[in-house]
Amino acid sequence: MDNSVNREGRLELSVPVIIASGPAGFGEYGKLEDFPWQDVGAFTLKTVTFKKKEGNKPPRMYAKDGYVINRIGLENPGIHEFLEVLQAGEFDWLFEKTSVILSLGGDSFEEYVEISKLIKPYANRFKAIEYNFSCPNVKHGGLSIIANKDEWIKLLYEIRTVLDEEFLIAKLGIEGGFVEHQAKIVSEAGWDGVTVINTVRGLMFNDEGEMIVGGLSGPNLLPIALRAVFEVRKMNPELYIIASGGIYTGDDAIKMLKVGADAVSVGSLLFKNEKMISQIANRVREYLGNSN
Ligand SMILES: Cc1cc2nc3c(=O)[nH]c(=O)nc-3n(C[C@H](O)[C@H](O)[C@H](O)COP(=O)(O)O)c2cc1C
Repeated sequence: MDNSVNREGRLELSVPVIIASGPAGFGEYGKLEDFPWQDVGAFTLKTVTFKKKEGNKPPRMYAKDGYVINRIGLENPGIHEFLEVLQAGEFDWLFEKTSVILSLGGDSFEEYVEISKLIKPYANRFKAIEYNFSCPNVKHGGLSIIANKDEWIKLLYEIRTVLDEEFLIAKLGIEGGFVEHQAKIVSEAGWDGVTVINTVRGLMFNDEGEMIVGGLSGPNLLPIALRAVFEVRKMNPELYIIASGGIYTGDDAIKMLKVGADAVSVGSLLFKNEKMISQIANRVREYLGNSN
């Protein structure tokens, strides 16, 4: 694999290790004294949608050694309340700790466009804006936007026009088509990067015998995510790629870099041991020959 392609769009991060959207919410527990901020290159906020979402009813999550399954359902305050909180300075502490990536979603074409217009005056506070086109846990939005290819392409161009100066990232999953072809569409629309992959639709029974129809994440996702990153890189040498899915160790992260990722992101690992971010960051620094 030739990784020497000169890509124009790159995220300048202290270390290319990112906290994924969702599992760490809006950063709350990062206020703990010993949270390893020095090893976090960027923090992705939980997806904010146009309208407030209450999320799904419990049980919402089930975790075992090899996997996590969740059906949170994008619980969030909605863009209007989010902007109020942002203006009130509630996230200022987080901006001081690290670079922040905003994750946005919507339930329709119009909502995606509207949310982009609303965020524009604040966009320069964020390192990048990631659009969630792949949440499997909501009825509309996410995956269903991609299902209508022509509409999705139109939307990508529209968002690119609204946010003409921002680093735009599309978060893609492996459902709803070949992810490498979706990434090509993203690239052709002038976007800068992709995050690959989101959770994969799964189903499990918890210890109480309750069925959880949700999204699968955690170590069992790693081979699927590796393959996805590999295929996306082969077809899209120019894109900035953030690898997401099953990264629990420094070695997992290195494998992602070897198949073409520019940065890695961790999600479910935070439930197990957030200190592992330091081990991952150190291995990544070592691999990239950069010991800062
Ligand atoms: C509890 C939970 C909530 C999540 N919420 C979001 C979300 O709001 N937006 C999003 O783009 N991805 C969300 N994800 C997906 C993660 O960002 C990540 O892509 C996925 O979990 C795979 O990575 P991992 O195996 O490191 O967890 C969520 C995942 C989990 C486990």
